Amino acid sequence: MHIKKGDIVEKLVNIGILLSQEKNLRKLLNKIVEEVINFTGAEGGSLYIKKGNTLHFMVFKNRILEERVSPDLLKKRIKKSSFEIKGTSIAGACVKRGEIIAIPDMDRVEELGFKYDRRMDKDLGYKTKSLLSIPLKGPQGEIIGVLQIVNLPEGSFEKEELRLARAMASQAAIALSNALLLDELKNAQLDTIYRLSRVAEFKDRETGDHIRRMSLVSKYIASAMKNDPDFIELILYASPMHDIGKVAIPDSILLKPARLTKQEFEIMKTHTKIGAEILKGAETPILKVAYKIALYHHEKYNGTGYPEGLKGYEIPIEARVVAVADVFDALVSKRPYKEPWPLEKTKEFIVSQKGQHFDPVVVEAFIKVYDKIISLYQKPGTLYSNQDLA
Ligand SMILES: [Fe+2]
Ligand SMILES: [Fe+2]
Repeated sequence: MHIKKGDIVEKLVNIGILLSQEKNLRKLLNKIVEEVINFTGAEGGSLYIKKGNTLHFMVFKNRILEERVSPDLLKKRIKKSSFEIKGTSIAGACVKRGEIIAIPDMDRVEELGFKYDRRMDKDLGYKTKSLLSIPLKGPQGEIIGVLQIVNLPEGSFEKEELRLARAMASQAAIALSNALLLDELKNAQLDTIYRLSRVAEFKDRETGDHIRRMSLVSKYIASAMKNDPDFIELILYASPMHDIGKVAIPDSILLKPARLTKQEFEIMKTHTKIGAEILKGAETPILKVAYKIALYHHEKYNGTGYPEGLKGYEIPIEARVVAVADVFDALVSKRPYKEPWPLEKTKEFIVSQKGQHFDPVVVEAFIKVYDKIISLYQKPGTLYSNQDLA
């Protein structure tokens, strides 16, 4: 490793601090691999997370390949995959043995009893010369993942160097195990949100999938607007609660299979304020965003919406995004008072409302991710994979 001895402890502590500050799992995984490449001077690294008897491939970075190969090709070649933990793969053996597996000469990897797939190397014109596979251990010593680094500088396989690599990995493991716990908590929270949001919807069985679908559509639109991952995540988690105020709307109005009278519509409109009342004053970022969405998701860009008749950018951005997703999903779904609209007709309608009902910027983003959105409706069986919700 190309670091002066005296600097090493300080460097390790700094990496530990840097990693422990990152709470977003996806960003943390990338940071870990980046830092480990910098620290060891290796050409590349990858990271796997262990779940049950499976290793899930999470991150791949390689500074040589990133210079040489286009990002698109690289993406295509690195297929995200998971595999069963077996002693014949290097990462699998690393988990089973719970120790570092160091292979200074990859030409001899088979002699050590491992199977190694060289197809990716061949495809990309790359040669993996040396490899270090390091187990990441949680607080109880349980293995939570594997860090692999390739093509290390000369001397990296000396005893002292391996000790440093292990120290670096244990810093990464602490941060990772915290982030995984937080992620689990977040998933539990998301599950609770969906279940509670269904309370309002339960009365209206035909919209059973509406909240999940519209929250995914909101997420896709938000990501097309190039908003940061935290914002996208907040929209995904908060949007299911948009109609929570409907719990207080009588069934005779909510389920009426015909057009509402003016008076009934006035009552229906109160679901925005009731929802806001339920969510008001909460401390967590998700519920704060959920409050804005519940209150303002029926506002219109041209100022003709309700409950406050806000105009343009007076309407919070989260509500402007959700408005498009909510209307889109409502139109393509069957409701007690209407048949589903065809996808194309719905798209045309959304576009026609650009600058009227909807924020033009949000409509542009909707168009950008339209293919992704309609895939949700064409493959209903795949709608709620964990990946979509991640
Ligand atoms: Fe609503
Ligand atoms: Fe809705």
